[in-house]
Amino acid sequence: MKALVYEGPGSKEWKDVPKPQILESTDVIVKVTKTTICGTDLHILKGDVPETKPGTILGHEGIGIVEEAGPAVKNFKAGDEVIISCVTSCGRCEYCKEGMYSHCEDGGWILGHLIDGTQAEYVRIPYGDNSLYHVPKGVDTDALVMLSDILPTGFEIGVKSGGVKPGDVVAIVGAGPIGISALLTSQFYSPAEIIMIDMDENRLKEAKTFGATHVINSRTEDPVKRIFELTENKGVDVAMEAVGIPATFDICQSILKPGGSLANIGVHGSPVELQAQKLWIQNIKITMGLVNTNTTPLLLKTVVSDKIQPEKLITHHFTFDEIIDAYDVFGNAAKEKALKVIISRD
Ligand SMILES: NC(=O)c1ccc[n+]([C@@H]2O[C@H](COP(=O)([O-])OP(=O)(O)OC[C@H]3O[C@@H](n4cnc5c(N)ncnc54)[C@H](O)[C@@H]3O)[C@@H](O)[C@H]2O)c1
Ligand SMILES: [Zn+2]
Ligand SMILES: [Zn+2]
Repeated sequence: MKALVYEGPGSKEWKDVPKPQILESTDVIVKVTKTTICGTDLHILKGDVPETKPGTILGHEGIGIVEEAGPAVKNFKAGDEVIISCVTSCGRCEYCKEGMYSHCEDGGWILGHLIDGTQAEYVRIPYGDNSLYHVPKGVDTDALVMLSDILPTGFEIGVKSGGVKPGDVVAIVGAGPIGISALLTSQFYSPAEIIMIDMDENRLKEAKTFGATHVINSRTEDPVKRIFELTENKGVDVAMEAVGIPATFDICQSILKPGGSLANIGVHGSPVELQAQKLWIQNIKITMGLVNTNTTPLLLKTVVSDKIQPEKLITHHFTFDEIIDAYDVFGNAAKEKALKVIISRD
């Protein structure tokens, strides 16, 4: 089969590799029909994730058709259409029992990281019963690809951790796929205002179509000053960080009103300076974490009932043999006006 193989920092190839086989009785082999690229794949390619060894097939998102299910798999059989979760969970360990699948003792985020991933014609999914979801009938399958990673991430680590409530003023720093997912799923709770901050004018324009009430370009305006102007000098109830750098964490810790929550979603590669001397007296709550994907069934229902339309995040379509072009477009997202790409079998 063909797959997109990480060949070491700065290098990747779409090439022939052996088709995956069932290794454990709980494994499922999925014939991938649609996959996508995540910012994390770009981090791996840059060499920022040394745990990912050269020779690993990239990708942790996608949908497909069950090719073969191991003898211990109960919920899936050959021919079933499935959504692949970016997080693998055994369902039995201490963390899985608490719904903290991201820390599964025999799983977590391993696809396209520690084991071969979904940017391939076939993928082996360990613990298929817990790590796959059935595709419901009559739903846009492009939309379902957004359930592998970005929607649960924005919802769990941004919206739920931040505790968005009706009437809240929410600020989201970063209007990439994750920030937009947080924007979409914040609206389940009817916040009064959602302010999006980014430096990319096109993404801010997109954010408005997804329900942002205000947008701030932090390249041309001071976002902190502008937020206090917009909130009668009060600040926001919830600030979500969806970039992963000190500058955007700083914006978040500067705009909260007393009792507010800072929900950090971004993956940080360097320390941030916590303004504890200012924040302690304001009763601020700070959360952060790795997505668990334990909300995937809930989010799936909201997509089926058309409460959210995550397919609108998709800006480009490619076929498997154009995957290198897909990386070029996604890697130059600002220039190409890209948010999420879909790579399909045909
Ligand atoms: N916690 C988790 O489980 C989890 C899961 C997936 C992704 N993530 C992380 O979420 C973050 C966002 O992911 P994404 O795919 O949306 O990334 P992305 O790179 O597509 O989007 C980031 C956005 O931030 C904007 N930006 C960059 N610097 C800025 C600045 N100084 N001020 C304002 N805006 C700025 C960019 O223009 C871009 O639109 C990343 O750090 C990613 O690694 C976390
Ligand atoms: Zn991802
Ligand atoms: Zn587990």
